[in-house]
Amino acid sequence: MVSQGGRGFFVSLEGPDGVGKSTQAASLAMGLRAQGWRVVAVRDPGTTALGEVVRTLLLDAGIHPPPVPWAEVALFLAARVQLLAEVIEPALADGRIVVADRYLDSTLVYQGAGRGLDPERLAALHEEVGAGRRPDLTLLLDLPAERARDRIGRELPLDRMEAEPPAYHDRVRAGFRRLALLSPDRVVEVDADRPPADVARACLQLVTARLELAMAGTGLPA
Ligand code: TMP
Repeated sequence: MVSQGGRGFFVSLEGPDGVGKSTQAASLAMGLRAQGWRVVAVRDPGTTALGEVVRTLLLDAGIHPPPVPWAEVALFLAARVQLLAEVIEPALADGRIVVADRYLDSTLVYQGAGRGLDPERLAALHEEVGAGRRPDLTLLLDLPAERARDRIGRELPLDRMEAEPPAYHDRVRAGFRRLALLSPDRVVEVDADRPPADVARACLQLVTARLELAMAGTGLPA
């Protein structure tokens, strides 16, 4: 079937802070539902009861001193393992489309490129605990760094990750672009520097095209 070990289809949306990713994830889920697909929308970290508590901890700008990088990884990983077991794997096994607002690539980039941890060790750690599943398709939203910074600045107060210095966000943006170069079959860049409705249309078209390809080979249930 189209995704590893399951019958559904797994699409993630990724990108630096401020690119409008959460809005696009919600639009994509809505657009796919309107076409008759059975969709489960998740956010990572979050969605499960445990994941939402962990998310609050991770984004809390008031924890001093803040988590060291591997503590940060452990928290993101805990939320993700729970999300996979509780929501993503059952949904894929049931033939649904999972639309994830962030996923494993965010760890490889934010904790890898951003914090300087080895992405191979991060990926191996995920494999080790059974969280190695990769999306079938990843839409990488990209926006010039200054435009993303402007958007972050409009959403005060900043959370702990948003409050990182510009150099950190620049490393993250470069890390995402590198990831797209390394995995061209899975990761597709989407220009987010245009009206949200245009970005939404582009995202929906990309996913629909992949779904049609997948269905041609397998008969994914709508
Ligand atoms: P967001 O879901 O609202 O984008 O916020 C999540 C923040 O956490 C965002 O700054 C990206 C960051 N993050 C990581 O650093 N590592 C991860 O593995 C994930 C999923 C998110």
